[in-house]
Amino acid sequence: MSLWERLFFIIGIAIASAQSVLPGQNVYRFPNAQVLATQQKIANYGHPLRVAVNVGEQKAIKYVFLDSKMLQAGYPTSSEQGSIDLPRLPLGDWNEAHIHLDRHTGTYSIRNTTLTSHLEMINNWHPRKIDYLEFVKVEMLQHDRLQVVTHPDFDAPVLIKIASFPWDIPSLEREATVYQLLHGSGATPEFLGHVTEGGRAIGFITEYIGEVPSIRGRNMQGCLAALRILHQRGIAHGDAHNGNCLIRKDGSSVLIDFELSLETWSHEEFGRDLDIMGRCIQAFSEHA
Ligand SMILES: *[C@@H]1O[C@H](CO)[C@@H](O)[C@H](O)[C@H]1NC(C)=O
Repeated sequence: MSLWERLFFIIGIAIASAQSVLPGQNVYRFPNAQVLATQQKIANYGHPLRVAVNVGEQKAIKYVFLDSKMLQAGYPTSSEQGSIDLPRLPLGDWNEAHIHLDRHTGTYSIRNTTLTSHLEMINNWHPRKIDYLEFVKVEMLQHDRLQVVTHPDFDAPVLIKIASFPWDIPSLEREATVYQLLHGSGATPEFLGHVTEGGRAIGFITEYIGEVPSIRGRNMQGCLAALRILHQRGIAHGDAHNGNCLIRKDGSSVLIDFELSLETWSHEEFGRDLDIMGRCIQAFSEHA
């Protein structure tokens, strides 16, 4: 990820988390679709929504772009403040729809639907593939991007991490590749497969590790050991703070969040990882 991508990513997270607590934010409502994710306006595309469309028993994931001019102008049409009533969405052979506001009638309608070829993850190294719609949500950790879910393939809840929008695919791809490089090393949560959406790979499944706060302070040295395993396999974590080290109930430590990781043999990069994690552990034990 370039510096700019990183910066926009961080700003994006800051905006997304600020938005979820701001009163008066727009709520988008479809008669037959549930909004799974939104992002700040993307130039040329309009404001993007990831939605699950329901028609009878059938369900499909679609991407909807709202004409950004209508949002800037602030045109809520329903009596409920901040709520925008959007049209019914059809199923069928499309994955992107553009919606615009008819200024005469004040209603939102579909301008066009297109079948666009979206980015997908290429390195699908694990044999298990499960469609996003087969998972049952237990808890959303970061909207639909990071969720605890259940599925009949697994005895216990698992974690899925997905690209909510096609342009998020590259960082997920990088992360899945790091999991592959570290497969069997014990330094990561167990990688359990890929998440697909209509056959396109959009994310991955891992073991879910619920944190046990009482054992965290005692077991953090394991985080440094896990980092050394990465380094022995030629990977620098790139974001090695203690929040990216999880400790299982049995006390073992694993690293997560490899979106900024690098394949490298640079001792400088390795030193930086160890330095940051070391300081986090020290700060943690001083405040414990
Ligand atoms: C669909 O509508 C959008 C928004 O008005 C427009 O930018 C786009 O070019 C249209 N696409 C097609 C295929 O007509």
